[in-house]
Amino acid sequence: MTAKVAVLVGSLRKGSINRQLAEGLSRLARGKLEFEILELGDLPHYNQDQENDLPAPVVRFKKKIADADAVLFVSPEFNRSFPASIKNAIEWGSRPWGKSVWPGKPAAIVGATPGAIGTAVAQMQLRGVLTAIGMHVLGNPEIYLQYKDGHFIDGDVADEGLRKLLSGFVDTFADFVGRLRQ
Ligand SMILES: Cc1cc2nc3c(=O)[nH]c(=O)nc-3n(C[C@H](O)[C@H](O)[C@H](O)COP(=O)(O)O)c2cc1C
Repeated sequence: MTAKVAVLVGSLRKGSINRQLAEGLSRLARGKLEFEILELGDLPHYNQDQENDLPAPVVRFKKKIADADAVLFVSPEFNRSFPASIKNAIEWGSRPWGKSVWPGKPAAIVGATPGAIGTAVAQMQLRGVLTAIGMHVLGNPEIYLQYKDGHFIDGDVADEGLRKLLSGFVDTFADFVGRLRQ
């Protein structure tokens, strides 16, 4: 059966280049991995007072992660780190104590920015957090996309070189997920 991948996009805005990256990867993955983008904007701010009676969007989110075979983080870089929306989702997924949905899940990180160092700093920080919560994070290939107009058109990866790079990433991630599922 095709492995299910929960996709967390760190940008909530409509025209997000990271969302375009997630959608482009999702199309390239057809037949290899089944991607589902989860809406992080539905999650309230993490509040420990609500741990004993989790808000409905949190319950739904945790179930989606628990049911997924792997998680893909598609992260912009905000102020030289990964966005609060992703950290907030990680907090909810890790609680209450003993009920974390993260340990043992295969994960990968990609990201896009128009900036010259292509989310590298954000990704390094996120990688440390994911390791600490017990995820198995793909090491290579690393995707630090410096976004240019024309990379994505109508949900597809329109640039030939980028399509090759992202297809290679999808194949390696699918192989990694498959091996960890066994
Ligand atoms: C609050 C904020 C902080 C940002 N900080 C960085 C940064 O540290 N490094 C970077 O390369 N780009 C930074 N940017 C520019 C983003 O890379 C750019 O806005 C990008 O389009 C955001 O991703 P999105 O299109 O998926 O929303 C920042 C943008 C915002 C809104």
